[in-house]
Amino acid sequence: MTPSILVEGVAKRYATASGPVEALREVSLSVDPGEFCTLIGPSGCGKSTLLGMVGGLVPPDGGRVLVAGRPVSGPDPGRVASVFQDPGLFPWRTTLENVELGLELQGVPAARRRQVATDLLEPLGLRDFARKYPRELSGGMRQRVAIGRALAIDAPIVLMDEPFGALDEQTRLLMGEWLLDIWRRTRKTVLFVTHSLHEALALSTRVVVMTARPGRIKSVLGVDMPYPRAMDSAEMVALRAGLWAEIREESLRAMQ
Ligand SMILES: Nc1ncnc2c1ncn2[C@@H]1O[C@H](COP(=O)(O)OP(=O)(O)OP(=O)(O)O)[C@@H](O)[C@H]1O
Ligand SMILES: [Mg+2]
Repeated sequence: MTPSILVEGVAKRYATASGPVEALREVSLSVDPGEFCTLIGPSGCGKSTLLGMVGGLVPPDGGRVLVAGRPVSGPDPGRVASVFQDPGLFPWRTTLENVELGLELQGVPAARRRQVATDLLEPLGLRDFARKYPRELSGGMRQRVAIGRALAIDAPIVLMDEPFGALDEQTRLLMGEWLLDIWRRTRKTVLFVTHSLHEALALSTRVVVMTARPGRIKSVLGVDMPYPRAMDSAEMVALRAGLWAEIREESLRAMQ
């Protein structure tokens, strides 16, 4: 099977005023179609940089990145859609118009894109908010609009960089449940970044722990448990303790 995402030996150094910053060193990762793969690691370890490489926004200094077997040479929203911590909605557009945005940029005819966006409102839980503007929505709703915009394009791969990072804990838990439902229905490949152990373990088929900068892969944890997951089961509690021990070690290193 051709991996959905294949990262081979990538490196990244940023030039900054105070000298070069080595963000990533020799990172390799393979994600199969339909996986929900989560990157977790201390702040500054290069998670966003790695996502940026897969999304074609950050050119690697070394190594290569393939999406569905083809090299990434720049942003290609038809193949890889992205969602960030900031929903980045246009304030002057309604929910429906924001969800349609990516299709509009792709030149999809108006009637067709309106249809696609309208069909998405139900699973997004936004049916009654089609004509509302972002300022009239809650934080969780805005993030669902942003995810809807990514899903509307129907790219087989969705990158999510701390999509729920700015939400309160309760909303975040509910959004996780909602995302799981969407992912299981669409079976897209998801590459997800979070700082939340709970989120990583509740959602992922695989959790990739990164080291403190320069970011490398520290360990990969396959989570082969049925959904929805019993987060207080003995097995899960043990997984969480192991994961926390690894992340704690790297976070302490990052703080030194
Ligand atoms: N455009 C840039 N120019 C210079 N340095 C950068 C740039 N982007 C990222 N860096 C640096 O590269 C390192 C990795 O950054 P990155 O944003 O990928 O980390 P991260 O793991 O996503 O962190 P966080 O968890 O805080 O989001 C950091 O030291 C950061 O300061
Ligand atoms: Mg980041």
